[in-house]
Amino acid sequence: MKNIAVLASGRGSNLEAIIKNIEKGTLQANLACVISDNKDARALQITRDHGFKALYLDPGPKKTWLLPEFEENYVKTLQEHNVDLVCLAGFMRIIKKPLLEAFKGRILNIHPALLPSFPGLEVQKKALEYGVRFSGCTVHFVTEDVDAGPIITQAVVPVLDDDTPDTLAARILKEEHRIYTEAINIILSGKYKIEGRRIIRTG
Ligand code: GRF
Repeated sequence: MKNIAVLASGRGSNLEAIIKNIEKGTLQANLACVISDNKDARALQITRDHGFKALYLDPGPKKTWLLPEFEENYVKTLQEHNVDLVCLAGFMRIIKKPLLEAFKGRILNIHPALLPSFPGLEVQKKALEYGVRFSGCTVHFVTEDVDAGPIITQAVVPVLDDDTPDTLAARILKEEHRIYTEAINIILSGKYKIEGRRIIRTG
């Protein structure tokens, strides 16, 4: 069984879905550790409650990214836990060279919009303001360009006339919980090939 790690900064609902799917056996992976840049993240508590290893790693002085020496510490910890695949789930920092090089092609992220539409933050609000009739979520590989790596899975949800950013976010989140597991299973199975930006399933 392959080892995954989840990096999360906050609420941890995607992490919780991943843990539950591992416990049910619908996600075939071993959760080696969960790492947070926030001591008080609910994600760390959920991890401990389920008996997995929860680690807080000092993110250093920058707000939205990690200085190289701090990011190196994340790399070292992931390597010590023999992690095969790193899954970002609400990790609120831009990933830079140290992690990208150490885990090339082995970092995933989930984003609450149909990329390439609405990258960045507060994307449910942006989707409503733009007036799209459908939004959704995307699991993609993490590359140097934020929210722009090759897409593994997406799910579509309708935007309703009386939606607020919160109601839309909740509808999208349900799908996030489903497709993140689907994407991790695809990548860990190795049954895919990459053609340009396209991830094509082979099994
Ligand atoms: C999710 O909407 C995810 O798509 C985005 O951040 C949010 C994290 O939520 N990247 P949670 O911590 O998994 O509940």
